[in-house]
Amino acid sequence: MTILITGGAGFIGSHVVRLFVEKYPNDHIINLDSLTYAGNLENLADIENKPNYTFVKGDITNEVLINELFGKFKFESVIHLAAESHVDRSIKDPLAFVKTNIIGTVNLLNAAKKVWEGNFENTLFYHISTDEVYGTLGETGLFTETTAYDPNSPYSASKASSDHFVRAYGETYGLPYVISNCSNNYGPNQFPEKLIPLFINNIINNKPLPVYGDGNYTRDWLFVKDHAKAIDLVFHKGKQGETYNIGGFNEWKNIDLVKLLCRLMDDKLNREKGSSEKLITYVKDRPGHDLRYAIDASKINKELEWSPSVTFEEGLSKTIDWYLDNEGWLRNVTSGAYQRYYEKQYGKQ
Ligand code: NAD
Ligand code: TYD
Repeated sequence: MTILITGGAGFIGSHVVRLFVEKYPNDHIINLDSLTYAGNLENLADIENKPNYTFVKGDITNEVLINELFGKFKFESVIHLAAESHVDRSIKDPLAFVKTNIIGTVNLLNAAKKVWEGNFENTLFYHISTDEVYGTLGETGLFTETTAYDPNSPYSASKASSDHFVRAYGETYGLPYVISNCSNNYGPNQFPEKLIPLFINNIINNKPLPVYGDGNYTRDWLFVKDHAKAIDLVFHKGKQGETYNIGGFNEWKNIDLVKLLCRLMDDKLNREKGSSEKLITYVKDRPGHDLRYAIDASKINKELEWSPSVTFEEGLSKTIDWYLDNEGWLRNVTSGAYQRYYEKQYGKQ
């Protein structure tokens, strides 16, 4: 099988590409990524010379390029992860999210439809999405696959729109598709603008830990390698035209998570107990901040027999170890443009 994976140089994409390249040596994996600030080929250095792997640098919004690639490689399926993915950036520049997340997705759908139409057998467009499309929960309840879409940020609105387009191509043109909506991921290779890697990096450097609002926001955290395994299952065994919610059964209030992270970091860095917690600084809240996300993952659990393989403490400990062992990676991604972003978002420290 020839599989196009978009966004494979990013956080989740790089784990998915590695899993597929190593587990399916007879499949050809083409990783298409435009290498934005969040894309990093260092993430895939260990598999870049595998015979069943090809990297193409390119933008999913480029119609000519995408049509050329479909013609050249004859993709039979697509796993679409490329996206602008950070809520705070979407608040500053919504149009970038419309371009990549909506127009880029429709561009891929058009190319797939053009090449596959007439013989959809053995083809699949797998769209990777987020639980943020469902909006926010109150103190109770869980997002299920039938929860109505109610996005609140420009990021989640753009992802919701792309989900709708994928479904519409299925209904209107018969394009075989599947969608999964996942909760917050954490793990190695995540760009340090998201909560966990940002705070690990700041603790290493003794910088303030900027907790938004009162810190009582809740997220459901999943280890990235468990998400990659779920994607493998949905791709190979999921039912066409269905949505699968993927979650960690693992809800944490931000402030409790940050305190756990501080305790683990003190231990690993041999620092005095309580020293990282002193870095916690409450800052202005994110506009439109969603109170709580939590996924009901019982469908994928029952139908595809998936469940997370590591506990949060294990996953978080592995994640911290990875960042401590890969300071070079961290240094490379936190220079230049990152510094400018950080100062714009949090002010000079
Ligand atoms: P990421 O920002 O780390 O990676 C995105 C990748 O897409 C980068 O390599 C980037 O270079 C590439 N990209 C961006 N714009 C592109 C374009 N126009 N053309 C080609 N490539 C482009 O994101 P991530 O956290 O790995 O998320 C991957 C996918 O999973 C996204 O679709 C995201 O919405 C979804 N998701 C993420 C999470 C999470 O917690 N991170 C949770 C659920 C769903
Ligand atoms: P984030 O990692 O950006 O993921 P998402 O917004 O997609 O859930 O944020 C996770 C939570 O942490 C969210 O409630 C916002 C909060 N947060 C902070 O309190 N401070 C920060 O500096 C960041 C980046 C996030």
